[in-house]
Amino acid sequence: MELIDTHCHLTFDELADDVEGVIERSKAAGVTGWITVGTDTQQNQRVLQLAERHENMYAAVGIHPHDAKDVTTETISELKKLAKNKKVVAIGETGLDFHYDFSPPSDQRRVFAAQLKIAAELNLPVIVHCREAFDETIDTLERFGSGVKKVVFHCFGGSVKQAKIVLDYGFYISFTGVVTFKNADPVRQAAKIVPLDKLMLETDCPYMSPEPMRKQKINEPALLIHTARCLAELKGLDLADFAKAVTATTTTFFALPDR
Ligand code: NI
Repeated sequence: MELIDTHCHLTFDELADDVEGVIERSKAAGVTGWITVGTDTQQNQRVLQLAERHENMYAAVGIHPHDAKDVTTETISELKKLAKNKKVVAIGETGLDFHYDFSPPSDQRRVFAAQLKIAAELNLPVIVHCREAFDETIDTLERFGSGVKKVVFHCFGGSVKQAKIVLDYGFYISFTGVVTFKNADPVRQAAKIVPLDKLMLETDCPYMSPEPMRKQKINEPALLIHTARCLAELKGLDLADFAKAVTATTTTFFALPDR
């Protein structure tokens, strides 16, 4: 069985010091591919360096909505330059987050739109972060996403109704350990309606450790197996069959080399 963690932050401080150990434990658990995701200019440089050193590891570069307020035209052109590296398989994470409001909504929209433009120009998929901003995120994708061919809503925590809207647009949905949480019935209901050719898995580590490992403060790709197991069960599938299907979806979405 081979799973791909489509959204991990291996360069964040919690994981960076022991990244080789993290990768070894991941492989031992059957999680043999990684997309390590940048959130600002410095992290984008780091994810690229790390991906360049590891087989089956790829990078996504983007500016997180939390950091949107400091983004200038230079930040955007620097991002575009980095995105041309052959290890970059997506723009992200980018999007809107009105839960924390670390950056004003107008800045978040501006920076999200600029990244959609880069994705369209470079023909890269987009990893979307959306928190308490569902309608605005869909609206921004409609207005500024022309030419963007593939979009995934990462760390999906929405309802069945929202999942239907996302799927109607042809977008993909990625689930973290949140789907395993005891109080996450609405997310599990949503997961039930996502077809396997639109569904991907991620840890979003170092955050979001899945049950039954939720007490492990620092999540890591090895724990993706618990999220996979939970979703396979929801779908009434063997873990191996489920893994094969979602890995195929991931390979298509990010245009990864066949393995
Ligand atoms: Ni993330």
